[in-house]
Amino acid sequence: MSGAVDDGAAAAAAAAAAAAGAAGAAGAGGAGAAGLDARVLVVMGVSGSGKSTVAAMVAEQVGWEFAEGDAMHPPANVDKMHAGTPLTDEDRWPWLDVVAAWIRGHLDAGTNGVVTCSALKRSYRDVLRAPGVVFVHVAGDGALIEQRMSQRSGHFMPTSLLKSQLATLEPPQPDEAHVTIAADRTPEAESAEVVERLGLVTIPRA
Ligand SMILES: Nc1ncnc2c1ncn2[C@@H]1O[C@H](COP(=O)(O)OP(=O)(O)OP(=O)(O)O)[C@@H](O)[C@H]1O
Ligand SMILES: [Mg+2]
Repeated sequence: MSGAVDDGAAAAAAAAAAAAGAAGAAGAGGAGAAGLDARVLVVMGVSGSGKSTVAAMVAEQVGWEFAEGDAMHPPANVDKMHAGTPLTDEDRWPWLDVVAAWIRGHLDAGTNGVVTCSALKRSYRDVLRAPGVVFVHVAGDGALIEQRMSQRSGHFMPTSLLKSQLATLEPPQPDEAHVTIAADRTPEAESAEVVERLGLVTIPRA
């Protein structure tokens, strides 16, 4: 996979417009050609696609709060993942509720944030979706991710789960507020693309 897919811009713009009420608010003017008005980014994709890497980099560049959705899993889920057992949807709903609460807290407080969450199925994203939320799908093929996973140590997601993750993935559809970022480039290039496509304002480096 290479290049970027600009498929969710219209939905994002619609969501932002619906959200904004005061449409001129932050981002509407400078939100780039796509007209995206993101207040909270949910960086999604299969394990090993580079969500954490890209999300942390974007958050740092724009000065938004960063959180790991994986850190919001209930302990029982972490135990299952350690054991290499795929989570069921029953396991995931309470986790997604925690991530959604984090998102809602930021939207309500008017603070921007970036959170990682695999959000593989549309029904999972439905729990997280809100006006001002834009999904950033870090999309890579199995071979690329397999190679990265094999080089990584000390992470709780075994490589054996990659296949089921890819099978489960329902990429965001055109009516979902999202951008898709190809995972086959450097983290710097990928995060720069997120910043540019969403018209985010970077913090000048000292
Ligand atoms: N663009 C990239 N180019 C090369 N390596 C990368 C890139 N992005 C991430 N990596 C490396 O690939 C591995 C997986 O990245 P990362 O942990 O960010 O993925 P993730 O999607 O957050 O995975 P998980 O869902 O398991 O948390 C890491 O070792 C990371 O350093
Ligand atoms: Mg991660």
